[in-house]
Amino acid sequence: MNTPDGIQELKSTFEAYLDFYVKSHYQEQDELGRVIRYVLDGRGKRVRALLCLLCTKAVGCDPISALQPALAIEMVHAYSLVHDDLPCMDDDDLRRGRPTVHKAFNEAYAILAGDGLLTDAFHVLTDDVDVNFLKTIGKETSSFKLPFQRKISFVQELAKGAGSSGMVSGQVMDMYWTAKQSFKSDDLDEMHKRKTGCLIASACIMGASMGPVASITLEAFRKFGEHLGLAFQITDDLLDGMEGTGKSKDKDQKKKKLTYLSLMTREEAERCAKVYTDHAIEILQDLDSQGMDVSELNDLARTLLGRTK
Ligand code: IPE
Ligand code: IPE
Ligand code: MG
Ligand code: MG
Ligand code: MG
Repeated sequence: MNTPDGIQELKSTFEAYLDFYVKSHYQEQDELGRVIRYVLDGRGKRVRALLCLLCTKAVGCDPISALQPALAIEMVHAYSLVHDDLPCMDDDDLRRGRPTVHKAFNEAYAILAGDGLLTDAFHVLTDDVDVNFLKTIGKETSSFKLPFQRKISFVQELAKGAGSSGMVSGQVMDMYWTAKQSFKSDDLDEMHKRKTGCLIASACIMGASMGPVASITLEAFRKFGEHLGLAFQITDDLLDGMEGTGKSKDKDQKKKKLTYLSLMTREEAERCAKVYTDHAIEILQDLDSQGMDVSELNDLARTLLGRTK
């Protein structure tokens, strides 16, 4: 993903924090530690973490203060991919350019590593950024402690975005409608919104709630995330036919998965992804007029639309 320098720098800081966390919590000598290290190592685009950190920046706060929710959301996302690839779900062999976890290890370890990551993510949300990490990047150590109430609100937000009315319900719809092979475009949008939009929206909300923003503004960040999430999943559907994504080419088509391309041509789906991205960008323009610094969110939204993996 060709992101501007400022976003790239933020991604490097996030990767350094994730690496620090992984090394201090998951050991190579430990069976489960080895699997989780495989899952978390630096190959994802880290889109959800970046959105969280950039939303914190947009509301005028140091993005470093949102490293905990950014890490937690990537852990939940990583678990969702491990389970999504299982034979009982999408049955995929390739992820991020390597064998999927159940192929590299086995199914039980894939399920358990996912369970471990999901659960650990909620622990992360209740912690503060590690002081030893802050020292390595030369940051004042006391200013990143979050109030208890903020941590509780993170737990609630992530549970909502990832749980049985959010991402998991979207994954259920994906299985249900794919098995039925009869669906309307409304079903598809609801499924995409839940399986991908909800978690992306939670990333934005958690990031934006680091600043003193009104609830109506937080809702604008949620809508931004939902629109962007829909566009993101449509682009993911479009990439099924491409080489070089790190996933098997035409996997959706071969398994008759319910995607945007089940209902429309490539050109129409591209147009829909653009429309949802434009909706997201309109929300940013509104936030901009309220004095928020949304330029990098704007850059990221445009980059995601044109991504090739
Ligand atoms: C893939 O997500 C699954 C979807 C929800 C589309 P990403 O495209 O963000 O995957 P990584 O984390 O970069 O591998
Ligand atoms: C996955 O969507 C969404 C999740 C919640 C994990 P896909 O099944 O389209 O993701 P890929 O294409 O396997 O990455
Ligand atoms: Mg899937
Ligand atoms: Mg899949
Ligand atoms: Mg896909």
